[in-house]
Amino acid sequence: MFYEPKKKNHGLAKNPFNSLIVPRPIGWISSVDAAGIHNLAPYSFFNAVSYQPPTVMFSAGAGANDDRLKDSARNIEQTGDFVCNLATWETRDAMNQSSVTAGPEVDEIALSGLTAIPSQLVKAPRIAEAPVHLECRYIKSVEVPGWTEADNYRVIFGEVVGIHIDDSILTDEGLVDIRKMGIISRLGYNDYARVDADSVFSMERP
Ligand SMILES: Cc1cc2nc3c(=O)[nH]c(=O)nc-3n(C[C@H](O)[C@H](O)[C@H](O)COP(=O)(O)O)c2cc1C
Repeated sequence: MFYEPKKKNHGLAKNPFNSLIVPRPIGWISSVDAAGIHNLAPYSFFNAVSYQPPTVMFSAGAGANDDRLKDSARNIEQTGDFVCNLATWETRDAMNQSSVTAGPEVDEIALSGLTAIPSQLVKAPRIAEAPVHLECRYIKSVEVPGWTEADNYRVIFGEVVGIHIDDSILTDEGLVDIRKMGIISRLGYNDYARVDADSVFSMERP
């Protein structure tokens, strides 16, 4: 089959686009607003884009407030930093809960039953239950041209200035033990995948 996204002529039960770009890592983004209210939300339009400096990005769609920004995007643009926490099998329900559409006055870390702990270098809090935290300084936002006025995606870039790794996921050889991380990723529809000992394989580069 072939279809043109703008014509929406796929003829399938659901838009297949995000079922094709898979698996997507989940950036579980914590931030704080100017009044000190904590915010947390998962973003699967998320990835690392460079090693030096280590840089990550996520893309936030239109929010429900008058400024049409999601709370994460507004907070980060105002306060200048965020933390990317890694979501795991253990925290999957809390991660999902934190995607609820709640007003900016709601602390979604507390709402999700999670523990906020201070960061070393940035104002945004970390999630104690996550095994890895990337402390990020906001670099810039890039707006994605939309088809209509309703489309409002903006990509937020951040430099990773501090990285916390729980010692329990490091091997004696000094490697990150992907089999122990229990990392989860986003697939299409309501589906997710978990990385475990059965799903990992290795290949030498030529
Ligand atoms: C696994 C998962 C991935 C998500 N990825 C995105 C995404 O990449 N971009 C986006 O705009 N919303 C995404 N969402 C929805 C947001 O998490 C949701 O709109 C949330 O309320 C935004 O919160 P905020 O306004 O506090 O930033 C995702 C939700 C889930 C459960």
